[in-house]
Amino acid sequence: MNLVGSLFGSSIGRKIVMAVTGVILIGFVVGHLVGNLQIFQHPDHLNGYAQFLHQLGPLLWVARIGLIVAVVLHIWAATVLTLENKKARGSDYGFKHTIQATLASRAMRWTGFVVLAFLIYHLAHFTLGLVQTETFKETAPLNHYSMTKDYRVAGFTVVTAGADVANVYNMVVLGFQNKVVSLFYIISVGLLSLHLLHGFDSLFQSLGLRNAKWSALLHKAALVLCLVYFLGNLAIPGAVLAGKLQPHAAKVAPAVQR
Ligand code: HEM
Repeated sequence: MNLVGSLFGSSIGRKIVMAVTGVILIGFVVGHLVGNLQIFQHPDHLNGYAQFLHQLGPLLWVARIGLIVAVVLHIWAATVLTLENKKARGSDYGFKHTIQATLASRAMRWTGFVVLAFLIYHLAHFTLGLVQTETFKETAPLNHYSMTKDYRVAGFTVVTAGADVANVYNMVVLGFQNKVVSLFYIISVGLLSLHLLHGFDSLFQSLGLRNAKWSALLHKAALVLCLVYFLGNLAIPGAVLAGKLQPHAAKVAPAVQR
């Protein structure tokens, strides 16, 4: 069998597909959080960053398609492996270890479903502008932002002062002023953090990096990372709900002034 055949055609191969796509997705969510945390700086930062990403044009599409492929393969491998496990369980389902494995994989499935539902909502919310449309209409005058300073990446100016860019800063703040939306985000990133925690454990196992000596240490490291990840994500809707982040004053239209 060739490499592609053995990756997709065997259980071990599918576990590797899950692990590798999992690593790609972890890389994305961590990078996305680091980018989003710029909301705690001047609006130039988040708005400049979003403009920089949009300016990447075809490269942005390459990254988007790569992410979609990773999500599809991750879900496909999870589904096939779950069905295989179910078939293989048969007579020994009374053993404790099998019950534990089933609980863990059930938790992975449910947290996975919620994260997928969240992702669909999130894309409709911030990328497509299909939900909270009243907020979008009301804030239409806020959609443009004039950069006050250059936005630089690795020492290079990528967005210049005075450039008219989308006001992603206000879009996020206004979006999270809706308590139900914020609560949905907080619950979803909480479940995503749990998903990542279980995922880390299986990832090390699948890649053969887990042994008795390292297992407890790896689990602790994963626990800390997932907790930091959750707190980082919680900080954004949390700060909006606590009134610490307000729409950028210079651009607030009369309709949404509070
Ligand atoms: C508090 C948490 C989050 C905030 C504030 C946030 C914010 C945003 C914003 C503002 C955009 C649109 C950027 C633009 O088009 O200019 C976006 C896009 C996106 N977000 Fe998030 N996000 C959060 C959490 C997440 C999580 C947990 C995931 C993954 C499970 C995620 C996945 C995505 C994806 C896939 C896109 C589309 C990127 C693209 O357009 O190619 N986000 N997010």
